[in-house]
Amino acid sequence: MEPHVTAETIDSMKAYYRARAAEYDEWWNRQGRYDRGSEANARWFAEANEVYNALDALALAGDILELAPGTGIWTERLARTAHRITAVDASREMVELNRAKVANTQVEYVLADLFTWQPSRTYDAVCFGFWLSHVPSERLDAFLQMVASALKVGGTIFFVDGRREPTSTAADHQLPAPETELMTRRLNDGRSYEIVKRFYEPTALMGRCGAVGLEVAVQETATYFMYGIGKRVPFSVGARSYALPDRLAGDIK
Ligand SMILES: C[S@@+](CC[C@H](N)C(=O)[O-])C[C@H]1O[C@@H](n2cnc3c(N)ncnc32)[C@H](O)[C@@H]1O
Repeated sequence: MEPHVTAETIDSMKAYYRARAAEYDEWWNRQGRYDRGSEANARWFAEANEVYNALDALALAGDILELAPGTGIWTERLARTAHRITAVDASREMVELNRAKVANTQVEYVLADLFTWQPSRTYDAVCFGFWLSHVPSERLDAFLQMVASALKVGGTIFFVDGRREPTSTAADHQLPAPETELMTRRLNDGRSYEIVKRFYEPTALMGRCGAVGLEVAVQETATYFMYGIGKRVPFSVGARSYALPDRLAGDIK
């Protein structure tokens, strides 16, 4: 049976990111407690570039939904090609940093909890960076269903997350044991929070995506990251997805 993650843990994760907002980018930039030495840092940046290149190659245009945008590391890139971005995050502090960094009036920010938020329209693409590993396994199918419902048929999904690698996190953090999904995170001032951290296995993840009509290929960089790129397919039944003949596909769009 999948472990049960309580509402307290979901709340603790929101509180953690609100409190962490101002120091969040230290992780991505390998500073302070996230500095793992020049060799590991160089590997991190090289692999981050691989993922940037994969996203840039998609040149996502149109109307984009970004989930859990945080300080804007990915929003900034998406804004280069998007016509419009809707960015949904639970943290006011993250949203304010994102707004200042991205400084683009085409981005609309929505403050909401992604475990209850539902889209009111469909988008050309849905993207999320380093969010999937915060979705407990028992909530993954509902989350992916929400993503599928937010995508136009043929629309693109892009996500990136971390692989299980101890040097990806701060030196004073310990990753959760395999098959468990809770870990303790610390801030620079020593405060600690329990959060969800689930490392999904690529093949299983592709299966869960396929079950809701998201045909996704998940790739891994050598050490640190995995990223998924795919499309919402026209029609989905049970655990398999089927493409309808063109003459029918038009009717269900
Ligand atoms: C690991 S950060 C990812 C930020 C950004 N996408 C990136 O890649 O740097 C996780 C983000 O999820 C947000 N978050 C945490 N719990 C949430 C929830 N229940 N609903 C919506 N956003 C949440 C946090 O505020 C934070 O911005």
